Amino acid sequence: MDLTDVFIFLFALYFLNLWWRRYSSGRSSQCRLNIPPGPKGWPLVGNLLQVISQRRHFVFLMRDLRKKYGPIFTMQMGQRTMIIVTDEKLIHEALVQRGPTFASRPPDSPIRLMFSVGKCAINSAEYGPLWRTLRRNFVTELVTPTRVKQCSWIRTWAMENHMKRIQKESVEKGYVEVMSQCRLAICSILICLCFGAKISEEKIKNIENVLKDVMLITSPTKTQLECLVPLIRNRRAFVDAKESPNEEMVSPIGAAYVDSLFALKPVERGGELKDEEIVTLCSEIVSAGTDTSATTLEWALLHLVTDQNIQEKLYEEVVGAVGKNGVVEEDDVTKMPYLEAIVKETLRRHPPGHFLLSHAAVKDTELGGYDIPSGAYVEFYTAWVTENPEIWSDPSEFRPERFLPGGDGVNADWTGTRGVTMLPFGAGRRICPAWSLGILHINLMLARMIHSFKWISAPDSPPDPTETYAFTVVMKNSLKAQIISRD
Ligand code: HEM
Repeated sequence: MDLTDVFIFLFALYFLNLWWRRYSSGRSSQCRLNIPPGPKGWPLVGNLLQVISQRRHFVFLMRDLRKKYGPIFTMQMGQRTMIIVTDEKLIHEALVQRGPTFASRPPDSPIRLMFSVGKCAINSAEYGPLWRTLRRNFVTELVTPTRVKQCSWIRTWAMENHMKRIQKESVEKGYVEVMSQCRLAICSILICLCFGAKISEEKIKNIENVLKDVMLITSPTKTQLECLVPLIRNRRAFVDAKESPNEEMVSPIGAAYVDSLFALKPVERGGELKDEEIVTLCSEIVSAGTDTSATTLEWALLHLVTDQNIQEKLYEEVVGAVGKNGVVEEDDVTKMPYLEAIVKETLRRHPPGHFLLSHAAVKDTELGGYDIPSGAYVEFYTAWVTENPEIWSDPSEFRPERFLPGGDGVNADWTGTRGVTMLPFGAGRRICPAWSLGILHINLMLARMIHSFKWISAPDSPPDPTETYAFTVVMKNSLKAQIISRD
């Protein structure tokens, strides 16, 4: 052992000691608290080993733990205390009735490290002035009705490309890979909304891959910067030179999300945002909006492929609204109740996330008769709400009709404000700020895909509803479907 090794060893001992002292003081103060019950853990690691030894993703363990420990329970994951809430009344109390108390994010959330350079993203910001500024800007710049209308040409352009790509893939391979096609189409819309530019399919695919890797923490943030900083610089030059839209830079100045970020000066960040912070804020849009919507589309199509009656009923509705030879436009999809019922049933039966993002209480508080320390991760296990047979009849069945008059879901409020029976977007202060935009993308794409083609299962790869976890809950074997033109 040379001198460097001795130094490293002593250094490691010192940190271990510091960490142990912090850990034990946290544990002993928690012992005095009446936190929710949970499985007994080991010293230092808590329940971590039990979770790992299960060999299945954490989200799939929740069903068993809920049965054993009830509507609110605690897991100790190493140093992290996780309080898991599964009951619809407690979820409504925390997120809506006492919304501000539970509206924060844990200070050292891994989500924060995953998505953010310099901790500047809406999803990870603690409840406070920075979050408010960023979220208000997001809503004004991306999801107000005026902005949605102004940018509708982007969706028209992306849909045309999407339909051509589907047809091409079907000719080349004999089937369509639904997930990858839908991801690409949605990603191209979101990139154009962010940067105001039409960029090549190659570049979109590259961004999509880089951001997917960032989500799964397999790619360094450097790649993310290399990929997005040039887009930001191009747009900044365009804005600074007060240019008019052209072939590549298609959105007029002020219509791209990134333009608003150039002008934003949050005092908490010391004024103008740096390029890296803009990269984080734009990545957040593309990452948060792509997989959630594409997963929903894939699950919806799985059910339409396996139940041709549902597909025909939807086709009839779309043709009834736009004619056999018409084109489905954005306004049309708001007048299609069966389409809406299919999308709602998909989000109920296959919520893209089984949990919301981690929440935290702004101060020590209580919920369901237990103490909730402000440092704890409060996890809302929302999948249980839609699996609960006391709320939904035959919850495992896919039945869009339940959202039509007379059905058990007809009064369901998917924003959770009036009560929680499904909450694919969360509820209260942190509800997904772009839920209406996400729904617009899904509705429009599904209506167009069903209007142009009949979707049937590919004989060599029958649809397989087995689930796995990859940021969202996706199909283990992606859906491959054959298409027949409706012309
Ligand atoms: C079907 C589509 C979508 C689903 C199911 C969905 C779902 C969610 C959920 C569950 C949350 C967390 C709520 C919480 O922690 O309480 C969330 C947050 C968020 N979503 Fe979405 N989302 C969708 C589409 C989108 C799109 C298209 C965008 C962007 C254009 C977006 C941007 C965000 C952002 C920025 C947040 C963080 C909000 C905050 O922390 O204040 N989402 N979303």
